[in-house]
Amino acid sequence: MDIAGKHIVITGGASGIGLELVRQLYEKNDISVVARPSSGLDKLRRTFRRVEIYEVDLADLHSVETGADQLVKSGRKIDILINNAAVQYTPHFIDDDFRFETIKREIDVNFTSVCTLIYLLMPGLLQSGPSLILNINSGLALSPKTSSAIYCATKGALNIFSQSLRYQLEDTNIDVKQAFLPLVDTPMTKGRGKGKLSVEKAATDIILGMSKSGPVIDIGKVKALRFLQRLSPAIAQKIMKAG
Ligand SMILES: NC(=O)c1ccc[n+]([C@@H]2O[C@H](COP(=O)([O-])OP(=O)(O)OC[C@H]3O[C@@H](n4cnc5c(N)ncnc54)[C@H](OP(=O)(O)O)[C@@H]3O)[C@@H](O)[C@H]2O)c1
Repeated sequence: MDIAGKHIVITGGASGIGLELVRQLYEKNDISVVARPSSGLDKLRRTFRRVEIYEVDLADLHSVETGADQLVKSGRKIDILINNAAVQYTPHFIDDDFRFETIKREIDVNFTSVCTLIYLLMPGLLQSGPSLILNINSGLALSPKTSSAIYCATKGALNIFSQSLRYQLEDTNIDVKQAFLPLVDTPMTKGRGKGKLSVEKAATDIILGMSKSGPVIDIGKVKALRFLQRLSPAIAQKIMKAG
C-alpha cells in the first residue's frame, strides 16, 4: 500500500510514537487523532492544523462509542486505523502501592478499546478501497517481563486478537497488521531502560512496514528476539524476564 493521500486515524497521537507517526505522515495524508484532552493535544492542534481531533478517553467505553460515532458521522472513509494508544503501569502484585483499580483501566485502554474501536469504525473501513488496521504491539507480547504483568498480558491478547481478526477479514478490503516494537525512547519509558530505539526510527520503520505486505512488522531488537526464540527459547525467556 502506498502511504500517501490516505485518511489515517491514529489513537494516542499526542505523545511518543503516535505523535511521531503524525509528524511523519502529516504532509502526504489526512490525519484524524483520537486522544484525550491534554497539553500535548493542545500543542498538536497548534502544530498540525489540518489534523482532525476526536477527544476520547479510551478507558471509558461510552467515550469510545461517542468518538467513533462522530468519526462515522463525518462520512469519511477510513483508509488506515492505527491503534497506538496504551498505558503501562509498572508495579508488581506484591508491591505495597499496587492498586487493583488499575487492572481494569489498563485492560480497557490497551485491549478492550482497541477491539471496540475496530468494531465501531468497521463501516468507514469497509467503504474504503484497500484499507489497513495496524495494531501497535510490543516484544512483550511474545515473551513477558517480570513487571507490568497486565501490560504484557494485554499485548499478548492483542497479538492473538489481531491474528484471528485477520482471518475474519481476509475476504474483505481490510488488511490487519501488527507492529512489534522493542524498547523505544518515549514518555512511557522515561527514566528506565538502556539502548532504546529513537522514536523517529521506530515511526519510520512502522511506516515502511505498513507499505509492505505481510501481517507482522518486527522493529529493531524484536527481530533478534524472534530469532533467539527459535534458537533457544529458554535464553530468550530469561533475557525478556529481566526486561
Ligand atoms: N515505548 C516503548 O518502549 C514501547 C515498546 C513497545 C510497544 N510500545 C507501544 O507503542 C505504543 C505507543 O506508546 P508510547 O511509547 O508512544 O507511549 P506514550 O508516549 O505514553 O503514548 C501513549 C499514548 O496513549 C495515550 N493514552 C493513554 N491512555 C489514554 C486514554 N485513556 N485515552 C486516550 N489516550 C490515552 C496517551 O495520551 P496522554 O498523552 O493523554 O497520556 C499517549 O498519547 C503503545 O501501544 C505501546 O504499548 C511502546
